[in-house]
Amino acid sequence: MTSHGARAPRVNGAIRVPGDKSISHRALMLAALAEGSSEIRGILRSADVRSTAAVLRALGVTIPDLEADVVTIAGVGRRGLRAGVEALDCGNSGTTARLMAGILAASHFTSTLIGDASLSRRPMRRVATPLRAMGATLEPSAEGGLPMTIHGRALQGTTWHSETASAQVKSAILLAGLVADVPVEVHEPAATRDHTERMLRARGIDVRSEGNSISLVPGSALRAADTDVPGDPSSATFFAALAAMASGGTLALEHVGTNPTRTGAFDVLARMGATLKFEAFADAGGEPVARLVVSPGLLGATIIEPHEVPSLIDELPMLACVAARAQGETRVTGAAELRVKESDRITAVVQNLRAVDVDAEELPDGFVVRGSDRPLAGRIVTHGDHRIAMAFGVLSAVSGGAIAIDDPDCAIVSFPGFWELLTHVTR
Ligand code: S3P
Repeated sequence: MTSHGARAPRVNGAIRVPGDKSISHRALMLAALAEGSSEIRGILRSADVRSTAAVLRALGVTIPDLEADVVTIAGVGRRGLRAGVEALDCGNSGTTARLMAGILAASHFTSTLIGDASLSRRPMRRVATPLRAMGATLEPSAEGGLPMTIHGRALQGTTWHSETASAQVKSAILLAGLVADVPVEVHEPAATRDHTERMLRARGIDVRSEGNSISLVPGSALRAADTDVPGDPSSATFFAALAAMASGGTLALEHVGTNPTRTGAFDVLARMGATLKFEAFADAGGEPVARLVVSPGLLGATIIEPHEVPSLIDELPMLACVAARAQGETRVTGAAELRVKESDRITAVVQNLRAVDVDAEELPDGFVVRGSDRPLAGRIVTHGDHRIAMAFGVLSAVSGGAIAIDDPDCAIVSFPGFWELLTHVTR
């Protein structure tokens, strides 16, 4: 069996994927809280980032149209946010809700976070509990989700041992410590993406990391700083996977973020047999970037270990679809967090793989996929989940195009222009 059946297209050319979602959210929040004016280049213009911009606007920050080449924001300072008139709508964005919860817990007014049906179901106690330990009052819904009302006030410091490896939880605590100017220490069960730490340091805040422990030392001003947002490695993964499964050619992905807390999927694609080369290394304001050049290979199955999961958590739907075209049985464990993403991504991935005739099964904390090169056809139910839509869009492109996606438009949550780019590189 080969990884790339006769139906797979060739790939060619060089593309640039849109800006990093995690960094775009943080760039807006930190620019809003800083003293002085910050410029953001390459911001992601997606629905999730627009949710963060809208929430900050509702709190009195002037945020210009994100379509501008350079988004310039005049910071209001750590004490400068003002209570909004209405509830703060985070849309589909977990990062907006959880990071803003940290900021609002230390802001001296009451606010309520709301979101769409998917976000309203997602767990908020993971941020409410540590922020309560710091002295704020947070009232999530009876189910532990949104709406969540936050009574912000002067907070005390905390040393928090997080049960979940979550950059959003870590960031909520660090941002609460930043706004309240109190010491916080977070111990994570496994290292998660460290953009908040890097960006705070670049703005003059004393943040120390030792192993999986991160501490913020109060007493420094939050300086304004410019951000050059790297291409999102999570978005790049869709095209790296496409190139890995192509029938030939080479695809270059320009200016991709290569922060080691984010690149697990690239390691997995290489391990499965694709050729990935990094070149043109550069630094984008404290974040490493490179050109990633990918060409196909004969793909074989792999085991994705629990310790790898935080570095590729958002990429698992795509990797599951690659496993559907790789020889042998791919197994993922230690990924129970997938069940509380924009959809239950374990069930969504497995049911959709089965719907297009792939042999797959659920595990409580992961899944098993047995690859084949037979034609795949059927209808995908995305549950409004952008990463499910895009992962199966790529699988459709390499397996003959007979996979229909019920809601392709939900890709705008993280990747505006995804479908046009997919058509462009497989033309
Ligand atoms: C994110 C952290 C991850 C990730 C999400 C973005 C962030 O979530 O899945 O897409 O920007 O901090 P968790 O912190 O819940 O793992």
